[in-house]
Amino acid sequence: MEPRTSLRFFFLFLAIAFLFLFTWTHLPSTPPPDVTALLDCATNSPSPWCIRLQSNKPLRVSDTPNHPLDPLTVKEINTVRSILSSHALFNSAKSYAFHSIVLEEPDKQQVLRWTKGDPLLPRLASIVARVDGHSYLLTVNLETTQVTVHDTVPLAGYPTMTVEDMTSSIWAPLSNAQFNRTITDRGVDLADLACLPISLGWFGKKEESRRLIKVQCYSMKDTANFYMRPIEGLTVILDMDTKEVVEISDHGRNIPIPKADNTDYRYSAQQLRQQQLNLVNPISIEQPKGPSFVVEDEHMVKWANWEFHLKADPRAGVIISQARVRDSDTGEMRNVMYKGFTSELFVPYMDPTDAWYFKTYMDAGEYGFGLQAMPLDPLNDCPRNAYYMDGVFPAADGKPYVRSNMICVYESYSGDIGWRHSESPITGMEIREVRPKVTLVVRMAASVANYDYIVDWEFQTDGLIRVKVGLSGILMVKGSEYDHMRQVPKHENLYGTLLSENVIGVIHDHYVTFYLDMDIDGSDNSFVKVDIKKQETSPGESPRRSYLKAVRNVAKTEKDARIQLKLYDPSEFHVVNPAKKTRVGNPVGYKVVPAATAASLLDHDDPPQKRGAFTNNQIWVTPYNQSEQWAGGLFVYQSQGDDTLAVWSERDRPIENKDIVVWYTLGFHHIPCQEDFPIMPTVSSSFDLKPVNFFESNPILRVPPNLEKDLPVCKAAVSA
Ligand SMILES: *[C@@H]1O[C@H](CO)[C@@H](O)[C@H](O)[C@H]1NC(C)=O
Ligand SMILES: *[C@@H]1O[C@H](CO)[C@@H](O)[C@H](O)[C@H]1NC(C)=O
Repeated sequence: MEPRTSLRFFFLFLAIAFLFLFTWTHLPSTPPPDVTALLDCATNSPSPWCIRLQSNKPLRVSDTPNHPLDPLTVKEINTVRSILSSHALFNSAKSYAFHSIVLEEPDKQQVLRWTKGDPLLPRLASIVARVDGHSYLLTVNLETTQVTVHDTVPLAGYPTMTVEDMTSSIWAPLSNAQFNRTITDRGVDLADLACLPISLGWFGKKEESRRLIKVQCYSMKDTANFYMRPIEGLTVILDMDTKEVVEISDHGRNIPIPKADNTDYRYSAQQLRQQQLNLVNPISIEQPKGPSFVVEDEHMVKWANWEFHLKADPRAGVIISQARVRDSDTGEMRNVMYKGFTSELFVPYMDPTDAWYFKTYMDAGEYGFGLQAMPLDPLNDCPRNAYYMDGVFPAADGKPYVRSNMICVYESYSGDIGWRHSESPITGMEIREVRPKVTLVVRMAASVANYDYIVDWEFQTDGLIRVKVGLSGILMVKGSEYDHMRQVPKHENLYGTLLSENVIGVIHDHYVTFYLDMDIDGSDNSFVKVDIKKQETSPGESPRRSYLKAVRNVAKTEKDARIQLKLYDPSEFHVVNPAKKTRVGNPVGYKVVPAATAASLLDHDDPPQKRGAFTNNQIWVTPYNQSEQWAGGLFVYQSQGDDTLAVWSERDRPIENKDIVVWYTLGFHHIPCQEDFPIMPTVSSSFDLKPVNFFESNPILRVPPNLEKDLPVCKAAVSA
């Protein structure tokens, strides 16, 4: 038996990723089976929505793009690969790897002018590749086969890791005898080893001019949840290109590896006896007349009064483009957002010690937020009425593979109310008018090693878009000699919470920065900060001493639009079209409405915060620039913070009545608690993009109420 195989030396997300890579790189022309559609349609008595799903979605990703923003198809990625393999840069290279092959989106104005039926715009691919130790950014014209090599000299940092980078890194320490020895010395059988590839950030000279990665390991003996059994204090620094072990930092030999007891989170591993918690009867949404949305040409989603283009992206995860909403009075489709996506994540851990200080992840630019989005579980990740969309990504050798069921789209009815009013008997009027709220959700879930991020784009018929991020998965924990709090001399020096014997959940933050290219009824928009100010009355003016008023401030340049949220100095944040007014003269707009969030408190000169400087404000506004899309920079891995949103914004360009992009950062402080062990119940927060004087009046006034006769049969059982 191959010794490595016997090691069971893998971890869950890479195992799955690898399986998909293997399957689809070896069977590139085989259509991926759409498991959901097949299962639901075959096993259930086929309900109408099932038939509709089948007819809507052929069981393969097509090879023909239909829209200028459609992602590259399997065939197009193969074409790019063959064009490049005969290009001088590649055919004379000793080694090369593709870190990204995606559509280079056509010029925005051309896309805006394009309508269905027009000839497709020229298809270009944007490629990030490493060739003989150098990073390249290239454009390939798929029609003319012309290759353009862009200048990337000014960019510090390295491209997003490939899945192969990560997989090969976790094996590499085994080539080192000292590593083997320290593992066995700690009583861990090499066959029980599971390791993680950890991006190491940048802290100065040591992390420069060489692509490095840190590897830390765990024992997977007696549990699938090896994350709870850290081999604390052991860090291997590897050269990611040569796989050479550069350094082994070996502290914490005295720290026991936490026990496996109660760490497994799988249903199959639970002691189900009498304590089985079957708290809720089976539940699902029925749509006897089928869903109210269609997905045209694979990527255009049309639902209720909304339409938008939807695609998977290896770095951003999900990209929503050309979101337009129907005007409730005129019936015309009106532009709201040209493009929205998760631009970057920043996840700094709050422990400055040797094995922890560098854990300051940037999950999109380092790991690929879309690459880490695993297939969704059809009955649990999304409800049964969901439609699924696949992603097509390149492996490091450029061969495309299909990530099936990466995105789901479904209509959600959570029992919420769209609007209501009932008259009290004192008026003598018997009025009770209520409208249920039904929304359309687009969902993906990325599992970046231990952590899971659920990202929802939820569209409402009243014009609101809610962007929600849910955090779940498994904590990154630290092994400790303590097994009870009474042994801890100073509680606040623990860097976290003792979650179980010898297990500390380390305090950390999550920041998710969204790129929001708002186009309210056209591209030229302004950002208006509407300050809510306390006004004091003059003596004798009123029995009131004070009241609030709204003061509008139009941001002239980028620096006027750097927003730090303040509860006692509040504002609304409007994106308006100054050239378009409502009947009564208000500029049409949408506002960014923050909900619970957190701000980074790290020192601005702390190296991680320099790289994550795009989180220094909750809102930024920049003029549209096609090459400014990744808030942490194009090459984020080991970057030094010289290509971030904070740097671009320093130019202080004019933004009034211009094509502008709004950046919103949703933050979480996470002080772990025992309920987060051994896996975390989902914690969510969100922000809204809400119409503000965009419609002439309530856009869902004419929506009918629910009537019993129209609804599927569903009766509450009389309780016993
Ligand atoms: C380390 O252990 C692994 C697994 O037993 C083995 O394959 C490898 O050769 C060892 N490395 C060294 C340098 O001995
Ligand atoms: C667009 O962005 C790039 C990258 O930040 C920058 O070099 C260029 O100057 C920008 N163009 C304009 C017009 O601001």
